Amino acid sequence: MADHISVRYLGHACFEFDFNGTKVLTDPFITYNPLAKDINISKLNPDYILLSHAHQDHVADLANIQKQSNATVLAIVETADWVRKQGIPDKNVIEFNFGGTLNLPFGRVKMVYALHTNSTPDGAYGGVPCGFVFFIGEKKIYFAGDTALTLEMKLLEDLNLDWAFLPIGGHYTMDMYDAVKAAKFIHCDNIIGMHYDTFSPVTIDTNEARHVFEEAGLNLNLLALGETKAL
Ligand code: NI
Ligand code: MN
Repeated sequence: MADHISVRYLGHACFEFDFNGTKVLTDPFITYNPLAKDINISKLNPDYILLSHAHQDHVADLANIQKQSNATVLAIVETADWVRKQGIPDKNVIEFNFGGTLNLPFGRVKMVYALHTNSTPDGAYGGVPCGFVFFIGEKKIYFAGDTALTLEMKLLEDLNLDWAFLPIGGHYTMDMYDAVKAAKFIHCDNIIGMHYDTFSPVTIDTNEARHVFEEAGLNLNLLALGETKAL
């Protein structure tokens, strides 16, 4: 049976994946995202919420969305500690760490390296930031999280990734030029850009981004807010 995999862009690094009917939300930051005014968070009902790290622009709407959906939250150990302190029940939190792969009802999720920093909104250490690889049926999808270009990405090159979600905004993460190098490191041609245009330091020339990816023979997708794409 063919897999039904799609993704809806909710701004910044927040995506709602649909993996054969299971909804998996990444890095919820909507209410405070000036570009996401048209997204109504009260309508979100994810089964899982994945956090790449605990910076505000990745967790601001976590507590509200978790409460209304009863979603299970996945995060690295120290960020998971902070999640539990937000009134989210222990049974709804899965902590894991680098190299770990969770076997979940919708597929597998592996935690992989990201080169960035991490603190929680209350100023505590949040552990190391991470990315994820989703294994859904035959499809493999890399969600890089906030990261600089790093040689560790080469560890993913033999996976034959179908899609990669890469930050392209610069300033806090890699920029579009390093993201092109990242796509080469991971041997993946189908890229979805994220972490750009949300606030002034990460505002980019999207035409230039399309151009540099095209020049490199890569397929860059910049989704409109609320747009759904089949993967
Ligand atoms: Ni960050
Ligand atoms: Mn960020």
